Amino acid sequence: TRIAIFASGTGSNYEAIDRAIQAGDLDAEIVLLVCDSPGAKVVAKAKKNQLASFVFDPKTYPNKQAFEIDIVHKLKAYQVEWIVLAGYMRLIGPTLLNQYQRRIINIHPSLLPAFPGLDAVGQALDAGVKVSGVTIHYVDSGMDTGEIIAQEAVPVKPGMTKAELQTLIQKVEHKLYPSTIQQLILPESIRL
Ligand code: GRF
Repeated sequence: TRIAIFASGTGSNYEAIDRAIQAGDLDAEIVLLVCDSPGAKVVAKAKKNQLASFVFDPKTYPNKQAFEIDIVHKLKAYQVEWIVLAGYMRLIGPTLLNQYQRRIINIHPSLLPAFPGLDAVGQALDAGVKVSGVTIHYVDSGMDTGEIIAQEAVPVKPGMTKAELQTLIQKVEHKLYPSTIQQLILPESIRL
């Protein structure tokens, strides 16, 4: 199964998915990185792994539709079947959603529907919750609103800093994302 990773930042989830593939735990192939931030660390990581990438600066396009048309062309050229958002800090528009219905997933560092949007870890700490976690969901036009696929809880200990909770959550993300992707693509990887 051919997947594209969409990321804007560090790319630790990209690396975790790549590791799972190398280890034989995930029957997929990352064929393309899409990144909306030319200076992002994930771009250098992809380059090091000789992964093809489409890196663009949204400011050089008139609107979202214009850059999403370019993205769709790239996705078609690389025969991408699934889109995996891993820290892609941008809402997906109809141009992409219509082409990849129920084929775009996202990971979010909270137990949705609690704490959608930016800084979910900080929001959870501020709210004083005793349990937060990780959610993987289908992507729709909203902000972290699509149908939930998988969740895992992470306990919030008293006095925990944001960095500590973030580290725990990322550890969970790096296992949950590859295993969930494997579950999703399983039906199509069993080709008789
Ligand atoms: C993750 O915490 C994910 O939940 C959120 O963005 C972060 C991306 O981290 N959507 P990384 O770039 O994969 O390290």
